[in-house]
Amino acid sequence: MALRTPLIIVNLKTYPQGYGDAGIALCRDMAAVAEESGACLAAATSAVDLRRYAHKSGIPVLAQHVDAVPTGAYTGAVLPEAVAAAGAVGTLINHAERQLEWPTIEATLSHARKAGLTTVLCTADVEATARGAALRPDYVAVEPPELIGGDISVSTARPEVISDSVAAVAGSNVPLLCGAGVKTQVDVAKAMELGAAGILLASGVVKAPKPRTVLEELVQGL
Ligand code: G3P
Repeated sequence: MALRTPLIIVNLKTYPQGYGDAGIALCRDMAAVAEESGACLAAATSAVDLRRYAHKSGIPVLAQHVDAVPTGAYTGAVLPEAVAAAGAVGTLINHAERQLEWPTIEATLSHARKAGLTTVLCTADVEATARGAALRPDYVAVEPPELIGGDISVSTARPEVISDSVAAVAGSNVPLLCGAGVKTQVDVAKAMELGAAGILLASGVVKAPKPRTVLEELVQGL
């Protein structure tokens, strides 16, 4: 179950609605909406839930983070090979809530790639997007940190971050995702008009009283 564009990735973070039985119910709603709409919907889950969700949800699943450590004595690390063996298709790298230094980003990209994972490199601004795209991840996802979890979307508050990031990845042919505060079909549609290949979002879906209804609206914007 590979990722394809246009794409919506829902990051379940550590929201109460995003793990265990509640999280898989949400992923199954995503599977139903993907089926109805033909859109590609994927979830970034906790390492704990990854195996179950990958096999039982019906959507592609990514890790929220992996550690570029070798196999061996690294207690508590999330090993890319183990993530792939659990059935995940890919991983986020350098999410705003799990930031890495550039040398670690490079090591993690290369390790995740070797493990067969699709890489989604998260960036905070246009400069980091340009630098990150040069490392050839499979996707770059730009998210202005100050808008994450808020009510105003990147498409409305910082449209230039999307268009400038689209320009920044053009030379390397890396599809650009964007996110932060995305909650509506209009937010998605604006991002797509600005050249995004998809959306990375969390609270707009995970915290919604009726996530399936929100998902049905969001896919209309793709
Ligand atoms: O990973 C997605 C994220 O950081 C954006 O979060 O809640 O603003 O959609 P949110």
